[in-house]
Amino acid sequence: MDDNKTVKQITSNKGSWKRFGYVLSHARLPWIWIVVVLIVSLAATKLELLLPQYTSNLLNGDTSAHMIKLALFSAGALFVVTFASNLVQGIGEVSITRNLRSVVWKRILGTKPSGFGDTQPGEIISRVTTDTEVIGLFIIKILYVMIPSIYFAVSVIITLYGINHTMLYWMLACIPFSVAATVVWGRYNFSVQVKVYERISNLTHYLSDRITKMPLIKSYGTEEEEVAKGEEPIEGMYKARVEAQKVMCAGNIAFNVIMGYIPNVILMLLGASLIGKGQLSFGDWVMFFMYTSRMTASISVVIFEWADIKGTQGAIMRVSGIMMNPSEFDETYPEKGAPEGDIELRDLQFSYGTKEIFENLTMTIKEGKKTVLVGGSGSGKTTLLKLLERFYDVGDGQILFNGKDINTYDIAATRKAISYISQDAPMLGDTVREAVTYGVGRTVTDEEIVQALEAASAWDFVQKMPAGIDSSIGDYGCRLSGGQRQKIALTRGLLRNSRYVLLDESTSSMDACSALNVQKAIDNYIQGRTCIMISNNVSIVMEADEVIVLKDGGVEAVGDHESLLRDSATYREFCSQGRECQL
Ligand SMILES: Nc1ncnc2c1ncn2[C@@H]1O[C@H](COP(=O)(O)OP(=O)(O)OP(=O)(O)O)[C@@H](O)[C@H]1O
Ligand SMILES: [Mg+2]
Repeated sequence: MDDNKTVKQITSNKGSWKRFGYVLSHARLPWIWIVVVLIVSLAATKLELLLPQYTSNLLNGDTSAHMIKLALFSAGALFVVTFASNLVQGIGEVSITRNLRSVVWKRILGTKPSGFGDTQPGEIISRVTTDTEVIGLFIIKILYVMIPSIYFAVSVIITLYGINHTMLYWMLACIPFSVAATVVWGRYNFSVQVKVYERISNLTHYLSDRITKMPLIKSYGTEEEEVAKGEEPIEGMYKARVEAQKVMCAGNIAFNVIMGYIPNVILMLLGASLIGKGQLSFGDWVMFFMYTSRMTASISVVIFEWADIKGTQGAIMRVSGIMMNPSEFDETYPEKGAPEGDIELRDLQFSYGTKEIFENLTMTIKEGKKTVLVGGSGSGKTTLLKLLERFYDVGDGQILFNGKDINTYDIAATRKAISYISQDAPMLGDTVREAVTYGVGRTVTDEEIVQALEAASAWDFVQKMPAGIDSSIGDYGCRLSGGQRQKIALTRGLLRNSRYVLLDESTSSMDACSALNVQKAIDNYIQGRTCIMISNNVSIVMEADEVIVLKDGGVEAVGDHESLLRDSATYREFCSQGRECQL
């Protein structure tokens, strides 16, 4: 996926402004907040512009009650508005980040598994958590810092021009040096920031991977080893952050000298000389000082933030990569109904990257029948089910439902027509009830749940749980045994009540005989539906209407148990190695 570059691949910020425009136009930004932040920031800037003028008037002798009142009022108002602007920019920032996060999350949900390429889950997580935050802060900095600073600097230049040209020109002469320093610093800062975000996502990936595999770490006693391994991403992040701090500090010093210290020295020497010659009043000199120090601060803030923004470009590239991925939610389909009928695979070719799985796969899966897929490990059985679920797009060839290409059907309707119970029986929900009704999409009565649990042979253990179907199953079903988890996953698949049922080794964690019993109960439940199964249980396979043997990227043989024992070497080998139940 070209757009979906991993953080490691982003070493250039080319095109990031275009991508920033894309993010802005698709991020459902809270425009009301943005306008409020801008207005309040500009109001605070306007008040800041008034103060030096009133101070100058006072120092030049205008000590009228009116002038004192104006000066005091503007100072008070500035205090209040500054407080208000801090508040609105804080809320504005979190609102922008929230909206952007929701959009990115929706986009992730709309992306096919194939759309993420090799990007690790940890990296994707840090795009939703960290990168969106960086972009939210960036937008706020533009509104809250850069635009008001530019407004302030331009207003001050106009005002100071009217007081004394020479002094102003000397001040402005410092700007090109500052810009040059910024360009150099900005480039370096970009590469340092890219490194920081790379390390953040490395650490997130490492932690999320290890935390989910804690039992494995414990049972193999590798805690010490993992502590040592964890040091690497933690230390890596520390080093990148130290480097970033050093770069930030060097930039700060350079800008303070060029835009702070040097102009002040000029102002002092030049101002003293002009006052001596009677060409400048004391009040105007003070006003010059007040304006200049604030103006140089504004200009250096603009330049500094501009350079700092370079570090944001990595986040923009990564987030826009996700946002520009094609989304299933945007697709339109000519067929409005759900798929039905026979499933036909015609000259199908499919590869994961360069690894070819199917070279020329042709088969027909008959409607209302139970078909079993048999083949060696890695022969593509699970992949075939994933292609029917449209997790991946096929290369050449076609998958047809009732003679119509799978791509013409609405993707959500296709998945709704299929109950896919995958090999690893994943589940979501805190209780049995939540786990078995997840994604069922209709109200399910308790009787129906019990009936489905019975069909999947799960009712025996569920009824013994403390709160029956409302008992907790732990995160991802961690309080259940492997076989129990498979029974819960089966129950969910049955409740979905779909036309097609895909079972990928869904009884593999049960002993051979209970697996056969569960299968018989399921067979009753799925009467009249089209079922595609993968199983290493010979007793189950023998009961199938049809067995399809996969080999070398194609179909080796099709038939029933007896005929395949005769015709297929792969099937004979499967039967000699597979599990069997002697009832
Ligand atoms: N996401 C992926 N990216 C790259 N290669 C993959 C991916 N998923 C599977 N593969 C590879 O594709 C091949 C087929 O995998 P698949 O899971 O379909 O095999 P299988 O027939 O179900 O095997 P098993 O009986 O062991 O479950 C394997 O060699 C596997 O390594
Ligand atoms: Mg498999």
